[in-house]
Amino acid sequence: MRKKFDAIYRRSIEEPEAYWGEIAEQLHWDRKWDKVLDGSDAPYYRWFTGGQTNVCYNAVDRHVESGHGDQVAIIHDSPITGSQRKITYAELQEQISLFAGALRNAGVDTGDRVIIYMPMIPEALVAMLACARIGAVHSVVFGGFASNELAVRINDCVPKVIVAASCGIEPGRVVAYKPLLDRAIELARHKPDHCIIFQRPEVTADMQPGRDIDWQEAVAAAEPTDCVPMDALAPLYILYTSGTTGQPKGVVRDTGGGIVALHWTMKNIYNVEPGEVYWAASDVGWVVGHSYIVYAPLLARNTTVVFEGKPVGTPDPGVFWRVIAEHDVKVLFTAPTAFRAIKKEDPGGSYLEKYDTSGLRALFLAGERTDPDTLQWASDKLGVPVIDHWWQTETGWAICANCLGIELLPVKQGSPTLPVPGWNLAVLDDEGEPVVSGDIGSLAVKLPLPPGTFPTLWNARERMFDAYLRRFPGYYETGDAGFIDEDGYVFVMSRTDDVINVAGHRLSTGAIEEVLASHPDVAECAVIGVRDDLKGEVPLGCLVLSSGVDRDHGEIVAECIGLVREHIGPVAAFKLAAVVPRLPKTRSGKILRGTMKKIADRDAWKMPATIDDPAILDEITSALKALGYAD
Ligand code: COA
Ligand code: AMP
Repeated sequence: MRKKFDAIYRRSIEEPEAYWGEIAEQLHWDRKWDKVLDGSDAPYYRWFTGGQTNVCYNAVDRHVESGHGDQVAIIHDSPITGSQRKITYAELQEQISLFAGALRNAGVDTGDRVIIYMPMIPEALVAMLACARIGAVHSVVFGGFASNELAVRINDCVPKVIVAASCGIEPGRVVAYKPLLDRAIELARHKPDHCIIFQRPEVTADMQPGRDIDWQEAVAAAEPTDCVPMDALAPLYILYTSGTTGQPKGVVRDTGGGIVALHWTMKNIYNVEPGEVYWAASDVGWVVGHSYIVYAPLLARNTTVVFEGKPVGTPDPGVFWRVIAEHDVKVLFTAPTAFRAIKKEDPGGSYLEKYDTSGLRALFLAGERTDPDTLQWASDKLGVPVIDHWWQTETGWAICANCLGIELLPVKQGSPTLPVPGWNLAVLDDEGEPVVSGDIGSLAVKLPLPPGTFPTLWNARERMFDAYLRRFPGYYETGDAGFIDEDGYVFVMSRTDDVINVAGHRLSTGAIEEVLASHPDVAECAVIGVRDDLKGEVPLGCLVLSSGVDRDHGEIVAECIGLVREHIGPVAAFKLAAVVPRLPKTRSGKILRGTMKKIADRDAWKMPATIDDPAILDEITSALKALGYAD
């Protein structure tokens, strides 16, 4: 039944060089590679060594030169500002080429880093592609992060220039970015030479003479600038993601492997043809945005939708259907939480009836496991395949999916289907031995990872080894646990580390704990992710106060919540905390976060044999109950 898929999959694993080499031929190379797969520095593998190409050329100029300059490249649909804008490939090429000139005038050279801190406007894509055009390495920072997080990224990647907008717009409030940016630069050890600011009508940013440059003025003064051939191994971007500590990991994506893999996925996973409209309802600040709002759809000559709004409230739960109908979207990609939000407000799907969404062929979901209720609701209402697919910032594209462009396989609820061609997935026990089918273990990918994944972490080659390659030699440790059933279907069950998933956003409980521990009255704390109907999980903090602190607990909790918002940002959605007398620990002093989570989520749990003092769990249970969790 799945003959076609199996044959392609087998070839990708058995003959990776032939497989990816043929695919790479479909793109433009200024210099052909010497080697498709280079294992000379294993376990750090490299793809297309010796090759030279330019990502922006392949994503934009190539299409203009082949006669598609009039095709719409970007549709900006912004219900939050009540505006829409369409940009053709030819217009996009011109804008990028001028902005690349503006970056050059601001001193940006090939290899320099540029931080981009922008909302969902086409200029964010222009800035990213302009960096790619001149071989500068961009690092996009999500708008929902606060100054401190921005400062950490400034110190780590040392940008020559920061590109920002004057504001982002959230329901009910305008988020002025410039004060956040100024504060971040103040906090950071490294200072960029310049900031280029795109002024939006909703808020005009104050400019610092000498340092800050107005986007429009910079573009007016710039010369069109051409694409620079880049080494296949040159970094295209750095995208920071949560690790186990407050120091985020700078995931690097390289040039050659990145374009080959992403281009391939548009047809083979999503089944979208050149010229069709593809919509990833995410944000350019996340990996989904990098891969599927910007690079992959443009590489495949699709029209990409840049949506500035929310699934509900901008203005109603029908906005997704309106966008699909109005722009003839063929494939939609979003996070399950967006569908849970729509379902909550419009369970009967009455808004859907107002729009003609018959052009839609499939819905892809990722960011967290798609719960069966949401999957069922979405497939009943939309009448198209609803495909859960599993991937990570590190991987850049899906590890497991139902590859619609190869052949649609039966959907099993709760499973992102099979490993995609290129991914040799295994389930390993603690000793690194494969488990028997159906048993839960660590999900690990046999090296080499396919092209388009991450060759390294920025400035942290050793950390890359320690975090992903050390535990299971010869494998990449995904950090997820799960099992593979008798049909080969993969089930991703949970993280094996302290990363939690809040509304499809990845957060580190360790990073939140670091902020809470900085409160002068907090002696010790533990943060767990508790189940949430809308967001999947939300963080909850248990705080132990220093002895002698006799202030009002409510005040301390409010201050702690404020601290997390100020240090990490509103995106942490940290709103639940309680003061507890002690934390449950093993006799060796390890905090029993897993047990606390089970109690909070009302899941079955067993008293851990290693617990130091079982009575503490009663105290924790009553604190959790007061917050509406536990029984
Ligand atoms: N800039 C500034 N603040 C932002 C922001 C941004 N770009 N994005 C979110 N925030 C703020 C929100 O305003 C909110 O602030 P509040 O605490 O003052 O209300 C907070 O961060 C939490 O945001 P969010 O988790 O998005 O929750 P929400 O309640 O605003 O919306 C959903 C809930 C489900 C509608 C929303 O999470 C959503 O659309 N999710 C889609 C998920 C997604 O795109 N995932 C990407 C991976 S595919
Ligand atoms: P991020 O790097 O932010 O994309 O988050 C990656 C993590 O999100 C993964 O390691 C998983 O824990 C989780 N995740 C993403 N997609 C899925 C999915 N389809 N099913 C289960 N977990 C998922």
